[in-house]
Amino acid sequence: MAKLRTTLVRQVLPGFVASLYYYLRFRCLVHPRAGVQPSSRITIGRKTTIHKYSRIILGATGKLRIGRECNLQSFATIAIGDSDVRIGDHVRIGPSCNLLGEDHEIDQRDTPVHKQPRKPLGLVIGDDVFIGSNSVVLAGLHIGRGAVIGAGSVVTTDLPEYAVAVGNPARIKRHRGVNTSPSHVSAPTTPNGSNHLTGRPASSREQPEGSI
Ligand SMILES: CC(C)(COP(=O)(O)OP(=O)(O)OC[C@H]1O[C@@H](n2cnc3c(N)ncnc32)[C@H](O)[C@@H]1OP(=O)(O)O)[C@@H](O)C(=O)NCCC(=O)NCCS
Repeated sequence: MAKLRTTLVRQVLPGFVASLYYYLRFRCLVHPRAGVQPSSRITIGRKTTIHKYSRIILGATGKLRIGRECNLQSFATIAIGDSDVRIGDHVRIGPSCNLLGEDHEIDQRDTPVHKQPRKPLGLVIGDDVFIGSNSVVLAGLHIGRGAVIGAGSVVTTDLPEYAVAVGNPARIKRHRGVNTSPSHVSAPTTPNGSNHLTGRPASSREQPEGSI
């Protein structure tokens, strides 16, 4: 009996409290078995669903903003750390995906990687993005509105709007609703070349156009 009570208090109750907190605050559905702590640094849009066993990993200063009517499937992880991660509306994140907001410095050989500075690069995912099951999206990227990432992909570069990218490293196969090659569709940048959502200079990781 005591063991059951301990299990309830340690495992079920915090999850239930988090679910209630997010439902009352944002009218979104966070499963009690999802690993999401109640935090004022997490904003979740109305009708968004965070499924069982998915996780949001928050550091000391990071922030997450998820739009409305999104879906984070089971075993998917959003690792924010101390970065700023923004996810648009109507985004689908498949089971077992990993979305990363941080990376590590790795250059010093005489210091273990985990003792080298962390890089809170952040991540921006546009509206209506569909991320297939088991994909990894590295930190510092901008995934343009409407992009599709095939199951099992590893995304290492920015993706333009409506790109369909697959593989490891993910390469653009085509664009949604367009019968032209990737070289005919421009990347989502402003006239001065900066990223249209982040305002940052276009990422050095951006894929060269027509690379496939
Ligand atoms: C990418 C995806 C959306 C299909 O897009 P599509 O444009 O209709 O793709 P097609 O099936 O016409 O395939 C186009 C090419 O991409 C390849 N491809 C498709 N999906 C791929 C993937 N996940 N990884 C690697 N290659 C893939 C195909 O083999 C094909 O290659 P080819 O041109 O050399 O023959 C789909 O394959 C996919 O991965 N969906 C994700 C499903 C999922 O994870 N759902 C989660 C449930 S919530």
